[in-house]
Formats: sequence, C-alpha cells, structure tokens
Amino acid sequence: MSQFLEFAVETAREAGAILRAEFDRPKQISYKGEVDIVTESDRRSEALIVSRLRKYYPSHGIIAEEGGGSAAADASYCWHVDPLDGTTNFAHGYPCFAVSIGLAEGGRPVAGVVFNPVTDELFAAARGEGASLNGMRIQVSAVEKLAVSLVATGFPTHQRKRSANMNYYWEFTLRSHGVRRDGAAALDLCSVACGRFDAFWEFGLKSWDSAAGVVIVEEAGGRVTDLSGGPYVPGGPHILATNGLVHAEAQDVAAIAERTAGER
Ligand code: IPD
Ligand code: CA
Ligand code: CA
Repeated sequence: MSQFLEFAVETAREAGAILRAEFDRPKQISYKGEVDIVTESDRRSEALIVSRLRKYYPSHGIIAEEGGGSAAADASYCWHVDPLDGTTNFAHGYPCFAVSIGLAEGGRPVAGVVFNPVTDELFAAARGEGASLNGMRIQVSAVEKLAVSLVATGFPTHQRKRSANMNYYWEFTLRSHGVRRDGAAALDLCSVACGRFDAFWEFGLKSWDSAAGVVIVEEAGGRVTDLSGGPYVPGGPHILATNGLVHAEAQDVAAIAERTAGER
C-alpha cells in the first residue's frame, strides 16, 4: 500500500502546483449547472493526474470528476480523483481548496491524499498505517459532547431548493459551538481527522469528494458512517464523519433534524 500512497502524494503535489500557480491568475469559469462551476484549472489538474495514473497503473479503474476516468481492467482497484475540490472557493480567490486522490480496493477506501497547495498542508493515510499531516501523525479530537464541539457541513450545488440540510444546519448550530461551511468536503474530512472539527456531515457527495478523506478520518481514529449509523460507501447519499466520541449524539441530532425538516 505504501507504494500507492507515495505515488498519490507525488501526483497530488504536482497537480497542486498547477492549482497554486493558476490561483493567482484570472480564472476562466464555465458552468456545469446553475451554480456548479468548472475552471480550466480543474481540467489541467485532472489531465495531469489521470495521465500519471494511466501510465503507472494502466489496469486500475479511474473515476474522475471532470470525466477523464476509465473503467477498470483490474476491477479490484479504483482511483477516485477530485482534481480541484472547492472550485467555487478557488474561482473567488478564497484559499480553501485541494487536490483529492483516493484509492479503493473492492469498493473500500484503502489509501488517500488531500493536498491544499496554498497552506501547503498534505494529509495522507493508508489502511492500517495511520494518518499524517505533512508527515506527522494526526489524531481526531477528544471532545466528548456536541455542546463543546465545532462541526462542519456543506451544501450541494445541484437541487438546492430540495435540500433539507438547512434544517440540519439549524439543529446542529443550536447544539454545538458552531457549524462551519468551508466549501471543500475533502478538507472538511481532513479537519475532522486532525481534530479541528469534531464532526462533519453532508448530503450528495460524490466518491471523488470523499474516498480519500474517509480513509484519512478512519486512520486518524475517527468514525465514518451514513447519518443513521449504517455503512458509508463513497458516493452514498449522506455521510457522517466524527471523532467517534460524538458520533451517537450527532446521529440523534440528525434524526431530530430529519423529523422536523418539514416544519420550517
Ligand atoms: C464541492 C465541495 C463542497 C461540497 C459540494 C462539492 P467541488 O466539490 O466539496 O464543499 O459542499 O457538495 O460538490 O465541486 O468544489 O469539487
Ligand atoms: Ca469536490
Ligand atoms: Ca472538483
């Protein structure tokens, strides 16, 4: 596994260098949906990552957000690539975005790298080998109660009016020190892994948003399920990632939010 991880680290750094250089330049934006934007940088970063994957692991599957992926000859390994997580932030000059590269084996994330080229923070983990930030071991927080926690969520760019998440936001806000909405799910997961956030939930993430972050949270000692405590598979309808200690309480709040969603 460490061979895969080394490859992913090197690739994420190269793609991150593209994003870092282009961050300071005027952005070329186009629209994939009403507010779902894509830039030339998303495409350049993805082209680099996918061409390296094809060269070094030609038999592996690739699922990449901007469509550069390909089906697996060796179906057991699949790379989930978000060449630029936090495109809206990037396009507005808000320095919270990352390259996210996850590897799943038989559908289960086994290695992941998330790199923010502005802060130069590189999160990495391989199954059974722990999680790190810039080479130093990281761990989830020791916070035991939501009442003293800092939590995070995100909102999808599609079907915005139908999302019940505003009610979840409300319920979690009332029961914690606050809810952050930073606009890059891969980094939100890494913030749980290194103890900045105690919990994170979201609806509708794609496998490229979460595959790397999931293994990083779990290897940092955290827990990842869906919002009702069932197994989470990258690309599943909702995710709850916590330090483990506030997990049950977060599930309870989610259940309340679900029940009361229609009332507001
Ligand atoms: C988005 C970000 C955001 C999340 C959205 C994602 P993108 O990814 O991770 O935080 O709320 O659901 O789609 O489009 O910037 O790669
Ligand atoms: Ca994303
Ligand atoms: Ca993206």
